Amino acid sequence: GKVRAPTHIISTISDDRGEEPCYAGVPMSSIVEQGYGVGDVISLLWFKRSLPRYCTHFIEICIMLCADHGPCVSGAHNTIVTARAGKDLVSSLVSGLLTIGPRFGGAIDDAARYFKDAYDRGLTPYEFVESMKKKGIRVPGIGHRIKRGDNRDKRVELLQQFAHTHFPSVKYMEYAVQVETYTLSKANNLVLNVDGAIGSLFLDLLAGSGMFSKQEIDEIVGIGYLNGLFVLARSIGLIGHTFDQKRLKQPLYRHPWEDVLYTK
Ligand code: ACO
Ligand code: LMR
Repeated sequence: GKVRAPTHIISTISDDRGEEPCYAGVPMSSIVEQGYGVGDVISLLWFKRSLPRYCTHFIEICIMLCADHGPCVSGAHNTIVTARAGKDLVSSLVSGLLTIGPRFGGAIDDAARYFKDAYDRGLTPYEFVESMKKKGIRVPGIGHRIKRGDNRDKRVELLQQFAHTHFPSVKYMEYAVQVETYTLSKANNLVLNVDGAIGSLFLDLLAGSGMFSKQEIDEIVGIGYLNGLFVLARSIGLIGHTFDQKRLKQPLYRHPWEDVLYTK
């Protein structure tokens, strides 16, 4: 039989050796001819399979809703400061991306992990939130700097509405909403945020679509695919902020002294 030379790299998502590149076995011509969208391409390259339209549409909505949230958030601020320091597009972009993490935009995977664990173990929202408090861990996916119980995040509502209409089950999202009801009874800023909404709804997508085994769901949540959605989405806005600053020919940024408390 054939003797294979050992390789240094294994790759399973794409192949560029033939006449046309393939994503998870699907040739580029089919992607174009069949009108695939960016949600389909993400499904092929991240999940290695074609997902039903409501799933790819949901992915696209996540991308669109998280593309930007104004100039004041951590990521955009870093990007703006970097662009104004005369740096190039990639430097300005990654400067912003580097702020994505447990407090800002990068709480999606942890939200999915904690909500899944709590729901699957049958914890009541009270038991879940109080056990997190005991451990000194903030509930990922809960809390926002400017959104409040009486000024909800429209993005969260839009995601929930879409899922209610199109998903076969929204049990994880409903659990996250129960958690929010409890946290809001403690403080008005402890709303379900966009990371928490995407984290819980993605669990519903994975579990409800019938396209993933239990083991695959654990792997996706374990590896942490979901922050990738925010990273990808926010790159669109951060690139926009870079162009905006360059277009406006903004000078080097220096933070005003008056806005710093100098103290010993
Ligand atoms: N779980 C439990 N308690 C919380 C949470 C939470 N998720 N968030 C805030 N609190 C509590 C704090 O403990 C604090 O009480 P303390 O001062 O006695 O410790 C009180 O609420 C006020 O908290 P602040 O620090 O003023 O909240 P802040 O506005 O700075 O934080 C933040 C906002 C960072 C989003 C916070 O709520 C948090 O860490 N949430 C979890 C991470 C998360 O989901 N991040 C994604 C946000 S959405 C996005 O970035 C796209
Ligand atoms: C965002 O999408 O950047 C936010 O939800 C964070 C914020 O403070 O607005």
